[in-house]
Amino acid sequence: MTSARSHTEWWKSAVIYHVYPRSFQDTTGSGVGDLNGITRRLEYLSKTLGIDAVWISPFYPSPMADFGYDVADYTDVDPLFGTLEDFDRLLDEAHRLGLKVIVDWVPNHSSDQHPWFLESRASRTNTRRDWYMWADPKPDGSPPNNWLSPFGGPAWEFDEPTGQYYLHSFLREQPDLNWRNPEVEAAMFDTLRFWLDRGVDGFRIDVAHYIMKDPNLTDILPAPPPTHEADFKPLGGYDAWEHVNDKGHPDVHAVFRRLRHVLDEYDGDRFAVGEIHIFDWHEWATYYGNGDELHMPFNFSLVWAEWNATAIRRRIEALEAVIPEDGWPNYVLGNHDEQRLATRYGPQNAPAAAVLLLTLRGQPTIYYGDEIARRETPVPPELQIDPWGLRVPGMGRDGCRTPMPWTPGPGHGFTLPDVEPWLPFGGDADERNVETQLTDTASVVNTYRRLLHIRRGRRSLLSGSIQFIDDLPADVLGFVRADGQERTVVFINFADETRPVRALPGSAMLLSTENGRGHVGTNGLVLSPHEAVVIDAGPVQ
Ligand code: NOJ
Repeated sequence: MTSARSHTEWWKSAVIYHVYPRSFQDTTGSGVGDLNGITRRLEYLSKTLGIDAVWISPFYPSPMADFGYDVADYTDVDPLFGTLEDFDRLLDEAHRLGLKVIVDWVPNHSSDQHPWFLESRASRTNTRRDWYMWADPKPDGSPPNNWLSPFGGPAWEFDEPTGQYYLHSFLREQPDLNWRNPEVEAAMFDTLRFWLDRGVDGFRIDVAHYIMKDPNLTDILPAPPPTHEADFKPLGGYDAWEHVNDKGHPDVHAVFRRLRHVLDEYDGDRFAVGEIHIFDWHEWATYYGNGDELHMPFNFSLVWAEWNATAIRRRIEALEAVIPEDGWPNYVLGNHDEQRLATRYGPQNAPAAAVLLLTLRGQPTIYYGDEIARRETPVPPELQIDPWGLRVPGMGRDGCRTPMPWTPGPGHGFTLPDVEPWLPFGGDADERNVETQLTDTASVVNTYRRLLHIRRGRRSLLSGSIQFIDDLPADVLGFVRADGQERTVVFINFADETRPVRALPGSAMLLSTENGRGHVGTNGLVLSPHEAVVIDAGPVQ
C-alpha cells in the first residue's frame, strides 16, 4: 500500500483537460478552432465540468506539416489561431476562473521553416550550422547511420547544396535541434521564459527524452523478441529496433535539471510534464530524477492496456512499484496521437474508464471529447491528412482529432453552419454532443461532472493512499483510497455480466455509472455489466 501524504502543489490535485486547438471552437468561420474559441469555452471547463487546468497543443506559427508540432517561431501565435493578445486574454480569463494553463513546448525539433534552420542549412560555415544535427554521408553516400523515423523511412535527409545529412526524428520538415550546443539550450530556455513571463503555469514537453542522443551517432540494433504483452502502441517496423542510441541518452537528465532551474526562477509552482514513452518501468521512473528534473513523465501505460481487471491492475501496480518516494503518479487514457478511448475500450466501458481515471492515485489528464465518449471518427481516405497516417498505413491520427460537437445541427456549435470543418464531425454528432448530453442525467458527460465534483471534495481521492482489494471476482477491480479518517472504495466490473462484491459496513454510494443505483445493500452489492461505483466507506475501522 502506498502512503497518504500531504500535497500542496496545485498540479498534484489538478485534473488536466487536453485541448487540441484546431478542433475545440472556431470563432472565425475558418473551419479550424482558435484561441478565442478556447477562451469562450473556459466556463464550460471550469464551471460545467469542474476542470482545474487546461493543456493546449501547439498554437505557434507553423507550416502545419505536423499540425503545429513543427514550430516556426516559439514565441508567437499562428494567425490561424489568433494573436498574442488573444493568448493573453485566454490566460487572464482562465486565471479569473481559477484554471491553470499549460502550453505545449516542442524542444526536440523545429520546423524546417524556422529562421534558425534556414540559417543552419544556408552553408556549412553559418554560425547556426551546429544548431541542428548535421553529419557527413557514409563513403557510399548513404545516411550517417541506420536511425529511423516512426513516421516512416530513415531519420536522415540529404541536403544537396551543403553535402550533409540532417537528422529528423520525425518528419523531414521537423529537423532535430542540437541540444549539445549550449547556444541552443540558452535560446530554447529563453522561449520558456517568454511564456513564463506571460504567466503560463506549466509546459507539456513534446518527446522530452529525444533531445539527447548518443553523441557518436552509433547504429541502433535489432530488438530482441518481446517477452510480454506490449505496454505501448505498436509502431510496426520501427519496433523491430532497439531505440537506445537515437533518444534518451543519460545526458538528458542534466538538461532537465537546468530546465527545472528555469521553472523555479518563477513563483507559483510552474509545472513540467514530459511526453516520455519508455517501455521499461524502471527506466521510465528515472525521469522523475531526484525531484529536481521534470515534475513527471506522462504515464501512457493504460492507453494500450486491454480492458480487463488483470491487465489494468498489473500496470497500476507496476507504476506504484517504481514511483519514487517524492514522485507523483499520473494517468492518461487518450490524446491526439491515440485512438479514442470509447473505441479502444468499447463505448459501453467509457463511463467506467472515467471512474478509473478520476479515482486512481495521481494526476489525471482528460482528452477533449472523451467526456462525451466521442468515438474514433471514421475519416474517408480522401479527407485523411495526418502525415503519419499518409506515410504509414494504419497509423493515422485524424479520427481522434475531429472537431468537438457542442450542439446538434449544422456546424455543431463548433463552426458556422455552412462551413466545412477541417476534419469531419462523424455521423453521430447530432446525438453525441455536449448540449444533448448535458440534458440527460445518465449521460457520460454528467458522469464526468459528478465524478469531478466528488473528487474535489474528497481528500482520499486527491491525495490518499491506494490499496487493491483482493478476493473479488476475476473481472472486478476494487481498490480503497484512504486519507486520515476518510476512505473511498471503487469497484469496476469489466465483465458483460453482473458480478457480486462484498460491501463495507456503513458504506454510502457516491456514484454509480449505472443510472438509478443509489445504495449499497447490507449483503453487499451486485455490479451490473460494465458498472463502476464509488463508495464512501466511512472512517478507517
Ligand atoms: C509527439 C506529439 O504528441 C505528436 O503529435 C507529434 O507528431 C510528435 N511528437 C512529433 O512532434
